Order: sequence, then C-alpha cells, then structure tokens
Amino acid sequence: PLEKGWVATHVYQYQGFWFYPKIIQGVLSCQKHFQALDTDIVLITIPKSGTTWLKALMFALINRNKYPNIHSDHPLLTKNPHDLVPFWEIGLYSDKDLLPDLQTISPPRLFSTHLSYESLPKSVKDSSCKVVYLCRDPKDTFVSLWHFLNKIRPKNRETFPLEEVFESFCRGVTPFGPFWEHVLGYWKKSLESPKKVMFLKYEEIKMRPNFYLKEIAKFLECPFSKEEESKGVDDDILNLCSFENLSNLEVNKIGTVSFKVENKTFFRRGQVGDWKNILTTDMIEHINTITELFFSKHGLKF
Ligand code: A3P
Repeated sequence: PLEKGWVATHVYQYQGFWFYPKIIQGVLSCQKHFQALDTDIVLITIPKSGTTWLKALMFALINRNKYPNIHSDHPLLTKNPHDLVPFWEIGLYSDKDLLPDLQTISPPRLFSTHLSYESLPKSVKDSSCKVVYLCRDPKDTFVSLWHFLNKIRPKNRETFPLEEVFESFCRGVTPFGPFWEHVLGYWKKSLESPKKVMFLKYEEIKMRPNFYLKEIAKFLECPFSKEEESKGVDDDILNLCSFENLSNLEVNKIGTVSFKVENKTFFRRGQVGDWKNILTTDMIEHINTITELFFSKHGLKF
C-alpha cells in the first residue's frame, strides 16, 4: 500500500498503475486465466471516459441482428450496459473461488476492462482479438471522476475536496491511473497496430456519432449494409444509446449494477467541457501543461 487517504482506503500500485485492494484479486485472476479468442472484442477505458456509453453502443452494434425490435424489445431497455458488457477485474474475475465459464458465450464475445495495455492478459496481446479504446479530455475525465467518487463514497465519509482529488489525479494516483500513461499506452499501440487497437475520443464521438459508429462497425468487421443505412439502423442505435434515452430509462434510475454501484451514478451530464464550470484557471493551466508534456511529442492532442 503506497498511498492512503483520499480514495476511502489505500490504493496499491501494480505494474505501474493504481488499484483499490478489492480489485487486485480480479486483476491477477484475469491475467492468469483469461483466454482470448480471435473473435473476441475488448472495450477498454480509464474510468469516467464514457465506458457506459461505449458499452451500450458496442453491445447494440454487434447484436443488431439478434435484436431487430430496438424500440420495444432490446436488452438495453431493461438492463444497465455494465450488466450486459461485464468488466473482467470488477465482475467476471472478482470471486477468487469461482472462475467464470466463458466458453458458452457465442462469438463475438464482448468484454470490458480498465487495465492498462501493459497489464492486459497475455492472450489478448497474442491473439487477433480486437481492442477498442476510448478516452476523454483529462479535464472532463477528472471532473467526472471527482463527482463519481463523491457519489459512491460511504455515507459516513466527508465529501472529497476538489483540490485534494485534483492533486492526486495530477500525480497519477487515481484508480487505474496514471491517466496519461494509460492513454499513451493505447495510443502508441493503435499507431503500431491499427487493425488490433482502435483509439477513440469521447469528444469526437459526441461531435460525429454517426461517423464513429460506422467506423467502429468497420473496425469490428461488421459494417452497416446500404439496406441497414436506408432503414436507419445506425440512427436507431445512436438514439437508443444516447445520454437522454439511457439516463431516462427506469432501469438506469433504480437498482445497482452487478458490482454494487447504483445505476444512476453512471449518468451525470454527459457533455463536453463541464470542466469550465468547475476548474480554476490555475488548475486548467496545470493539467494542460501535464497533458502537453506527455502527449505532444506523440502527436496526441485534446
Ligand atoms: P459526466 O460525469 O461528465 O456527465 P464512465 O461510463 O466511463 O463511468 O463515464 C461516465 C461519464 O460518461 C459521465 O460523464 C456520464 O454522464 C457520461 N455518459 C454516460 N452515458 C452516456 C451516454 N449515453 N452518452 C454520453 N455520455 C454518457
């Protein structure tokens, strides 16, 4: 345990990244036991980058033939995206006495993780499975994280001061952080192996959702046909998965996901640039400087 304090308990550093102790078991177990198939798809983010949205989009995308009645009879209408697309380390592999039976899932299997590229199970790197990585401007990722931590904190705990969490975030000490190393690991890999790793930004999908949905479909080798486009299947998926639609569904207002976090905490504002309402000028300058320092020489910009 190297850090104490702001995250309700210790966080541990493992392979260069920070973890809550209760998650370490799941990390080790999936590294040891997960066997990738060439047809697998792994959706990867650092927390608060838009994981819930991408889970919904990708689930709807790859299952579009299975659930043609998208308005009346779709799993996303009655289940939270996190229950449809499970995480490895916070879910499938959390129980140390019970390994998941993943053999029975029909391909393509869709999984999710917050692990860094370095920490992925070996078979993911060795197989031809596809990785879709989503990240977000660090300022919005931070603001979203700060709100989230305050929402999920134990009832008897005081709120986390903005300055304290900000200072930790900038030092790289956040769950699954450092943010910059996490993003950079996948950015480099996407340049090296563009058929293996697709690199997406929340802001870009927000701006051109239809274009990126189709890009994801092409990357996953399930492009939309002309007939599907003329029927508006792409727009139906985007509407189903929109912030407005998902956050207003009854299922996402009540109940908890399998890893015991309330469904509604995954939906807050869903906008780009909320950092302007929260961060001070000094904070903005500080975080921009770190981002520039880490990313600019690799041609990555936010
Ligand atoms: P904000 O806190 O800025 O509103 P994650 O899913 O990785 O935990 O990220 C949560 C962030 O994604 C939250 O951002 C949340 O509101 C936003 N989000 C959730 N569903 C979304 C959707 N369908 N479209 C766009 N953003 C969404």
